Amino acid sequence: MTTVAKLEARGITKYFEHESHRLQALGGVNLKVESGDFVCLVGPSGCGKSTFLRIVAGLEKPDGGQILFDGRPVTETGPTRIMVFQEGALFPWLTVRDNVEFGLKVSGVPREKRAEISERYLDMMQLTKFAGSYTHQLSTGMKQRVAIARALVMDPDVLLMDEPFAALDAQTRDLLLVETQLIWARTKKTIMFVTHNVAEAAVLGTKVAVFSNRPSVVKREIPNDFPRPRVPDDKELIDFQHEILRELRPEVRKEDDVGAAAGAAAEETTDAGAASAGKEDDADAGEKDKKKEGRTQ
Ligand SMILES: Nc1ncnc2c1ncn2[C@@H]1O[C@H](COP(=O)(O)OP(=O)(O)OP(=O)(O)O)[C@@H](O)[C@H]1O
Ligand SMILES: [Mg+2]
Repeated sequence: MTTVAKLEARGITKYFEHESHRLQALGGVNLKVESGDFVCLVGPSGCGKSTFLRIVAGLEKPDGGQILFDGRPVTETGPTRIMVFQEGALFPWLTVRDNVEFGLKVSGVPREKRAEISERYLDMMQLTKFAGSYTHQLSTGMKQRVAIARALVMDPDVLLMDEPFAALDAQTRDLLLVETQLIWARTKKTIMFVTHNVAEAAVLGTKVAVFSNRPSVVKREIPNDFPRPRVPDDKELIDFQHEILRELRPEVRKEDDVGAAAGAAAEETTDAGAASAGKEDDADAGEKDKKKEGRTQ
């Protein structure tokens, strides 16, 4: 008997109009995600990871290919697949509790039930004490936890996370890396998680999908069955991080080549060149952060 994947991307292509030319962001992305998988997506800047995640969420339509959810094609947003963005995108006029309960309220869940569910997730994210606070009274890390709680209360089958920890300091991020593993273990959610940080990918993922340069495809899927809980300092994970970087680096360099060859296409040269150089630094960020931490401890 063949099993049906929780989520499957089949030959996803996507083009954008970029000034006078057509840019192919996604070149036929194939990816199978089994129930309970924690898949980390890494790839050069601008290769189309966010675009891919938005397509999986149903927020954007592909030009070709299909997203299958439990074997059935999906084209629209739905409560089964919920996205958590880089900057939590919370409502500043609502308290933490009301932010967390927002989706439940919109779905018509009665007040008492909402309170019961939100309490559970506020506790899980260690936000109970701040339930009555407004978001401007929170740190960035706390806001991000509210955003994650707000997604989790909806009990989605699949959680789609686009660089949710990118704006956090190293200490807060390390805490959230541990918490995220615990939540994943407790809730058995299927998670797709975009990151530029290879240490993050190595700590979190059951597998890491490396995207190629545009037009992007999944170049390689690297399984990771290293025991949990994992922390970025785990020596054994360093080799795994290097394996990801070995796949990633040539793709980032290709981006530079594209920029140089484009010559006259100034926007490509500046955007792609600058961004990829920056992101290659990001790819090393895990190791740098660790050094930084070593100094502060
Ligand atoms: N709405 C849009 N209109 C035009 N071009 C777009 C649009 N959205 C994305 N693109 C282009 O598609 C490509 C992929 O963008 P996307 O944001 O998905 O990349 P990414 O891999 O998430 O990048 P990063 O790692 O920097 O977040 C980029 O070249 C971008 O300029
Ligand atoms: Mg992105």
